[in-house]
Amino acid sequence: RKVVVLKGGPSAEREVSLSSGRECAAALRAEGYEVTEVEAGPDLVARLQEIAPDAVFNALHGRWGEDGCVQGLLEWLQIPYSHSGVLASALAMDKQRSKDVYRAAGLPVVESVIAPRDEVRVRHVMPPPYVVKPNNEGSSVGVYLVHDDANGPPQLSDEMPATVMVEAFAPGRELTVTVMGERALGVTDILTDGWYDYDAKYKPGGSRHVCPAELPDEIEALCLDHALAAHRALGCRGMSRTDFRWDDTKGAAGLVLLETNTQPGMTPTSLSPEQAALAGMSFGQMCAWILEDASC
Ligand code: DAL
Ligand code: MG
Repeated sequence: RKVVVLKGGPSAEREVSLSSGRECAAALRAEGYEVTEVEAGPDLVARLQEIAPDAVFNALHGRWGEDGCVQGLLEWLQIPYSHSGVLASALAMDKQRSKDVYRAAGLPVVESVIAPRDEVRVRHVMPPPYVVKPNNEGSSVGVYLVHDDANGPPQLSDEMPATVMVEAFAPGRELTVTVMGERALGVTDILTDGWYDYDAKYKPGGSRHVCPAELPDEIEALCLDHALAAHRALGCRGMSRTDFRWDDTKGAAGLVLLETNTQPGMTPTSLSPEQAALAGMSFGQMCAWILEDASC
């Protein structure tokens, strides 16, 4: 089978995607696929028409690659592609709208509002502690944590979008669950010295992943159920990864769902491949499963 692995692209997560794409392409080759790696750029349509692959393995992250844009283009070209389709991708990428979907499905989320960047710079749009983030980026790019009023409202960079999401800070442990099809693979507890930011995510040794997480049975079951429910409520296809915070001083009431990633990282420090390994699936098997699930 002739396969294109799509990677790179212009989003803030470009480097992460180049790493995911490299890993997945190598694994698919080892599984016997004929793989062409394509960096997503302005010539994407021409490249895909020239190669005419049987399927696309989408290893893009962030805007344009994870938000329904490239999915729409692949639908238009009638090329089967991996992971979620147009609507689920667009919904999951919009952190605010995805919460509406989670709420409707009865899943626990924290309060948040969308506000103009310039307003967030001059006044606390909600009482601290809160977090400011772009509504549609991943990998903690452009995330500000406002603990208290010691330094006033956050000095947001001009690179932040004109409107941003302001979310009540959810304290607690950082948990994540990968879903593949109808199965939630397991829970990972992510331990960092400070914030699970870009460096902690991608620098080797930047964080420690405890998988399976050491959790009360009730919390573990809730995480697995919620991840599967979020995947279904958004209409995801194939693989997704849902991130949680759990305030362990509050029991089950302390668990909140932060977001679902429809194109989870597949880098050497990423979480989903570890969960797959624990579920008995090698990285190559995982990549092949994702690819064989492709459709349009
Ligand atoms: N946004 C990154 C790639 C992740 O969620 O793994
Ligand atoms: Mg994300």
